[in-house]
Amino acid sequence: MELDECIKGRRSVRAYTGEKVSKEQIEAVLEAGVWAPTGMGRQPWRFVIIEDKNLIKYVSDETKKLLREMMPDFAKRFETEEDIICYNAPVLILICTQTDKRTGQVNLLDSVLAAQNMFLKAYEIGLGTCYMGFIAYLNSKPEILKKIGIPDGYELQVPIILGHPKGKLAGGKRNKPEILKWS
Ligand SMILES: Cc1cc2nc3c(=O)[nH]c(=O)nc-3n(C[C@H](O)[C@H](O)[C@H](O)COP(=O)(O)O)c2cc1C
Repeated sequence: MELDECIKGRRSVRAYTGEKVSKEQIEAVLEAGVWAPTGMGRQPWRFVIIEDKNLIKYVSDETKKLLREMMPDFAKRFETEEDIICYNAPVLILICTQTDKRTGQVNLLDSVLAAQNMFLKAYEIGLGTCYMGFIAYLNSKPEILKKIGIPDGYELQVPIILGHPKGKLAGGKRNKPEILKWS
């Protein structure tokens, strides 16, 4: 696939078939992630892979519960039984880093860059992905992090869902680059 087609064709996917994602496909996506640029060459990313349906539902339910508490104005939106957090995706990948106040921002940036590589690789091999920012609020609940496999001393940076897209991807649209100054 041409790079331009990959960059512009990728879309966030929120509807998945029940088809299993193979171990090789997951590994290919992770491999793309670790080739991202990384501050000071540290490669801080670590990955928690969740395929257990019950555990993915647990993540969705706990995230909805937390969002209802945190955003009372939007509480109604998160009162549904529908999985509007992980969208019934068969795989949830949590990019995590060691908790370190000194490198905090770099860890997030590195994780986001790894995520973009992963989104593009997944698209290239026919899979769908979506950045699931809401799930990162679970960092305020260490007991939940532990239960889903994030060890003590680590924090969740970027949650990603992955699976076989159901139906065609929507078309994308972007504004033209707005140049503030070009000297
Ligand atoms: C930091 C960040 C957080 C996001 N969090 C969520 C989320 O919690 N739930 C969701 O459905 N989409 C989430 N998205 C996906 C965006 O909604 C999506 O990327 C955007 O609408 C552009 O669409 P596209 O990815 O199809 O080009 C997030 C994206 C980013 C970059």
